[in-house]
Order: sequence, then C-alpha cells, then structure tokens
Amino acid sequence: MEEGNGYSATVVQASLMTVAAVFVGLLLIRKLKARKRLPPGPTPWPVVGNLPLLGPLPHWSLAELAKQYGPLMSMRLGSINYIIVSSSKYAEEVLKTNDIVWASRPRMSQGDLLCFGSNDIAYSPYGPRWRYARKVFTLELLTTKRLADFQKSRRKEVLSALNAVVDECAGGRAVRMDLVLGKMIMTLVSRMLLNEGKLGAQTEALKDSDDFQEVVKELFELLGVFNLGDYIPWLDRFDLQVYKKRMRIAAQKIDGFLQGIIDDHIENHKLQTSENQEYVQDIVDVLLTRPRDADGQNLTHVEMNGIMEDVMFGGTDTSTNTIEWALSELIRNPQVLQRAQEELDFTVGRERIVDESDIPNLPYLKAVVKETFRLHPVAPLLVPHESTDVCKVGGYAIPAKTRLFVNLHAIHKDPEVWKRPLDFFPERFLTQDNGTDFDLLPFGSGRRCARGRIWAWFRSIPSSLFCFTLATGGCLESRRSKTWTRVRDSASLSRRNFLCMQLPFLGYQGM
Ligand code: HEM
Repeated sequence: MEEGNGYSATVVQASLMTVAAVFVGLLLIRKLKARKRLPPGPTPWPVVGNLPLLGPLPHWSLAELAKQYGPLMSMRLGSINYIIVSSSKYAEEVLKTNDIVWASRPRMSQGDLLCFGSNDIAYSPYGPRWRYARKVFTLELLTTKRLADFQKSRRKEVLSALNAVVDECAGGRAVRMDLVLGKMIMTLVSRMLLNEGKLGAQTEALKDSDDFQEVVKELFELLGVFNLGDYIPWLDRFDLQVYKKRMRIAAQKIDGFLQGIIDDHIENHKLQTSENQEYVQDIVDVLLTRPRDADGQNLTHVEMNGIMEDVMFGGTDTSTNTIEWALSELIRNPQVLQRAQEELDFTVGRERIVDESDIPNLPYLKAVVKETFRLHPVAPLLVPHESTDVCKVGGYAIPAKTRLFVNLHAIHKDPEVWKRPLDFFPERFLTQDNGTDFDLLPFGSGRRCARGRIWAWFRSIPSSLFCFTLATGGCLESRRSKTWTRVRDSASLSRRNFLCMQLPFLGYQGM
C-alpha cells in the first residue's frame, strides 16, 4: 500500500511539474510572440533591459541603433516598453495620424518633483485638466494681441540687455554667453509675464544673479536626465544617481522664486486696482483673478504655479541654447557669418538695431536660425509621450502604455532628406525644397507641441542673434573668441560646451 502511495505521489509531482513547465513555456512563447509583433530592436537584458545601450548621449546612441534596427524600433528600458521613431514618415504617423493616442505623458520624477506633481502643462497626462490648462495658456495668456502689445518692450529689453553685455565686456573681460543670454531672455519673459516687467526688488535681484541662472540651467539639465528609478521602480527609493535629491533642491528654489512673484503681485495688484482704474492686467494678474468658467472650472493653486513655471522657464533655456548654438556655428563658419553680416548691413545698416518687422526681409538670417534648429534641436527626443490605447504604427500593433521617443537628432540629419546633413549650411533653406513639416520639428508637432504662435515671440531670437552676429564678427577679427569645454546632460542641450566671448561690439553708436 505504502509503495503504491509513494508511486502516486511521484506521479502527481511529475504531473504538476509538467503542467508548470508547459505553463511557463506557454508564457514564454506568448511573450516572444508579443515581442515579435513589436517593431525590431535590440534584445533586452533582465532587469535593466536596454538601458545600458543609451550611453551618455542617448539621442546619438539611439540614432546609431536605428541604423541597425530601422527608423521604427522597439526597446525595453528597465521594465518599460518604448518605441523610438527616427524618420519623418513615422514621426507623422505618431504625431499626426495617431496624435490623440500618443498625446499623453508618462509619470516621471521630472514631472513629479520639478513640475509641481505634473500639474504644469508639459508633464501633465492627457485629459480634461491638461486641456483646460492649455486653453487658459493659449486663449488668455499667450495671445497674438499680447505678443504684439509687448513688441515694443521686447525691443527695449534686447537693447538694454546688449548694453549690459557691453558693460560686462568693459576692459576686455570675456563673458559667459549662456549666463548673459539667460538673463536677457528671462527679462524678456518677465516683460511678457508682468506689467513693465517689474518683479519685486528681491525677486528682480535674484533673477539677475548668476546663481539663479545656474538654478535654471540645473532645472533643464535635470529635465533631460534618465533617472534609474523611473525605469526600474524598486530602485527608485535608493536614488542611486542622486538626481531626485538635486531635483528637490532645484524645485525648492524655483518654487520660492515663483512664490515671490505671486506675493509681490498680490500686494501690487491691491494697490493698483484701488488707485488706478486703467490698470492693465498682466499674465500673473489674469491667473490670480480669473473667474470660474461657465462650467465651474478654475485653475488650482499648483496648476497656476505650473503654468507660470512653463511660461517663465519653458522659453528660457530653449532660446538661450539656440542663440548660443547659432553663435558657435557662426564662429565656426566664417563664410556664413560674412553672408549674414552682408545681409544685415544691406537691409538694416549699422545705424539702428534690427526690428521684428525687418525679419521678413532677412531670409538668410532666418535660414541661419532654421539651420541651427535642424542641427541642434534643443529637445532632441522631445518630451516623452505615452500611448493611451493600442495603436498601429508601421503596421505593428503597439500596446497601450507604451512610451515614445521621437529622435529629432536622427530625423534632422537623415541623409535621405538632407544633403550634406552634418554641415552647417543655411543656404539649403533658400534653395532646397524643405520637404514635409515632419522633416524639421524643433517644437514637436500635434497636440503636445510648443505652440506655433510662440514663433512670433521668438522673432526675438533673430533680433538678438542679429546684434550678437555683428559683435561676433568683431570678436573674430580680434581672434579672441574662446570655447570652454564642460560635460553636461540637458533636456534642452546636446552640446557639451558653453560659449565664452569677448565682444568688442562694433557699431550701434545709437544704442
Ligand atoms: C526656442 C524655443 C522653443 C523650442 C525649441 C521649444 C521646443 C519644445 C518641444 C520640443 C516641446 C515638446 C513637444 C513634444 O513633446 O511633442 C515643447 C513643449 C512645450 N513648450 Fe516649448 N519650445 C520653445 C519655446 C517655448 C516657450 C517660449 C514656451 C512658453 C512660453 C514653451 C512652452 C512649452 C510648453 C508649455 C510645452 C508643453 C506642451 C504640452 O505638453 O502640451 N516653449 N517645447
């Protein structure tokens, strides 16, 4: 009897093991089949997936991988599935044809710690709150009228920023262009955000300090890092790269700065409305006093801070880097600089500073800006998108909750589209058919793009570039320009240098 029992126990055990083996086998086959249904990509390792392949410059590494696996590639970063799009054809499929499916953002430490718990516009998931904030942003804050109203003060601000540079350069001192430009752009932004650009005395002093410019740069650097805990959740609590600690410190400083603006405003607003009936509301007033919508909606306090952060800083590092890159390319390409100067001398002359209304008559300068956007997109992988439903891309059924990188670095240098793709050659925009909108997308495209009308504002990029271009000429003549090398990761910067220049500043006696 006992022998019989032992025998049946063994049979049961063997049967259970067989069932378990079949079950695990089936699971594996299902997983393999599911992977087969995804676009091609490198085989992931356990736990880390393909994370080690990203290297220090992920957009470069991903462009190299795309040469092997194709312009539609799938990867697993930690435990998260990604698709990486590296051609304009697939960019159009995700950002236009299937825009709504890909319009959400994943939850990440950047949004949570740096952007008020993802309560800003850029990191908010797609849904009614994002739609509402975006509506306030475009219909009430950055309206065409407001942009036009501020045109005069933008010009004044560019001029005073240039004067400040001249002062800083006094005695042949070299200036760090990133800090100089950062202050200038932030002043322009304050003009947009605040009546007369007035911050309270303390906030104003803070804005103009090099230390605060470093905080803004830290913010953008952290927006671009790959925090391990976002990909391998059980590692999150250890904060192995110390990114989260840095994020908390930067967020605290930014928060203090924005709160300073709000406090000054509440005080000032009480004063102005009681004494001055004709007081014109600025962006912060609009945010602080806007009544509820007909359907009872209004912005919460954190959403308001989030929007202010987007307006105040969304344009700062992005524009600073673009101008800095453009200047670097002009220094490296003297023939381009010469042609830009000739066009400026011919169209504007040296007696006055360029006006925004001159821009349509400066096709070469516009081409220089476009070429800078092409070669040096400030957000080379955009901000990560996430799908909210199953979606067909390139014939593959991509599951919901897959994340997306659109690799502008690869698309903007695609040899199938661009002749001499690695050269700085603005002439291409004067002669070459620019192709589709999806060949060049420095602002992204579709629902989550940086608004098109922002272009209008960013006419200030050519204006300021104009001034520095002539100065750069002087700099080259005296052969005193320098570049310093340093390493940094940044959401909005793929270059690893910053530019220091000595600007003898030619011309503009009329400044
Ligand atoms: C040189 C100038 C600029 C460049 C190159 C730029 C580029 C970008 C890019 C690539 C994105 C991500 C798009 C995506 O994920 O699909 C973005 C998003 C955004 N940008 Fe800009 N941007 C610039 C200026 C600005 C300015 C001046 C503001 C604000 C005043 C701004 C506000 C935003 C906001 C709010 C988003 C998030 C949109 C959303 O997720 O719904 N940007 N920008």
